[in-house]
Amino acid sequence: MIHPVLLCGGSGTRLWPLSRKSFPKQFTRLIGSESLFQASARRLAGDGFAAPVVITGSDYRFIVTEQLQAAGIDPGAVLIEPEGRNTAPAVLAAALHLAQSDPQALMLVAPSDHVVPDAPAFRAAVQAGKAAARAGRIVTFGIRPTRAETGYGWLELTGPAADGVPVDLARFVEKPPRDAAEAMLAAGNFLWNAGIFLFTAETMIAAFRAHAPDLLPPVEAAVTAARVDLGFLRLDEAAWSGAEAISIDYAVMERAGNLVAVPFGAGWSDLGGWDAVAAEMAADARGNALGGSAIAIDCDDTLLRAEDDGVELVGIGLSGIMAVATGDAVLVADKSRAQDVKRAVEVLKAKG
Ligand code: GDD
Ligand code: MG
Repeated sequence: MIHPVLLCGGSGTRLWPLSRKSFPKQFTRLIGSESLFQASARRLAGDGFAAPVVITGSDYRFIVTEQLQAAGIDPGAVLIEPEGRNTAPAVLAAALHLAQSDPQALMLVAPSDHVVPDAPAFRAAVQAGKAAARAGRIVTFGIRPTRAETGYGWLELTGPAADGVPVDLARFVEKPPRDAAEAMLAAGNFLWNAGIFLFTAETMIAAFRAHAPDLLPPVEAAVTAARVDLGFLRLDEAAWSGAEAISIDYAVMERAGNLVAVPFGAGWSDLGGWDAVAAEMAADARGNALGGSAIAIDCDDTLLRAEDDGVELVGIGLSGIMAVATGDAVLVADKSRAQDVKRAVEVLKAKG
């Protein structure tokens, strides 16, 4: 049995105006008929999977339960973080929680805001990593790199990358500088880290003891003193505030020596911007990705999304433009500027 642990953190400002602080990207219907969170939970439901553990902030707890219920998925546990401390404390809290009933519990930690279109292929990759995880290894899932991406982790392989065949890692490099990313892309023996991990609760707790021991006392105390509140498990606020805000990638993955990668070639996107969203949508014959009731007249290579019922969006004679309209905001930008959308959020925040 594998326990899915869904990280349901926050924001995603590069997908403004759809993704908002009060309703972040994982809960929106960006691709397909379900939210990214619902699709993530469904991808890891069924044979061989236990009910998921969701770890999220207090503001999102009812969205989580509503969306799981609507998807017909039974929540195993919903852990509430008094405040976001990045992924290392969240993963450790989930490991300690699961270890209370079974230290050998296999946990599949996954973001809830990614797209993996071929769920059966993904489940097969997870199965392929099970034996290594049971043997005490930390299993990562590797994506073939297509650019010198500095926003991802990179996995250095010690052998050839064959889909579904676990291979030992020489090292894990989180968010390299540009020149290092270019060198790794050219070297050819690297994969991107998909941000999905498989291990036993015991393995992860031992990894924290070895590589990030300062996190153990506060997180352990926060789990031990957690309160059950309307069916949620609320981590203890005072203890939690003593945990350093750091990602699992820096706290553990870059330092651990027992890493394995399962190469995964069936399609993955972390939807890191509107250009990435456009790439996952079906396009018309002239390369226009149209969402909602949006209409393109004589346009090429656009992304046009009308996000709310009742909002009409029509593009005429456009090329390489993206426009996203919600009930209260409109974004219009050059498609090449997708990464600058976070600046819109900063500007609007400063404006108050
Ligand atoms: N519960 C909880 N609490 N979840 C969190 C928190 C938190 O404090 N912080 C982040 N998350 C969730 C996010 O919502 C996301 O689903 C996931 O954890 C990863 O966090 P990101 O902030 O998106 O990480 P990243 O994109 O910079 O990097 C990670 O993902 C890349 C692939 O998308 C790393 O694992 C990289 O190595 C990886 O390549
Ligand atoms: Mg991310």
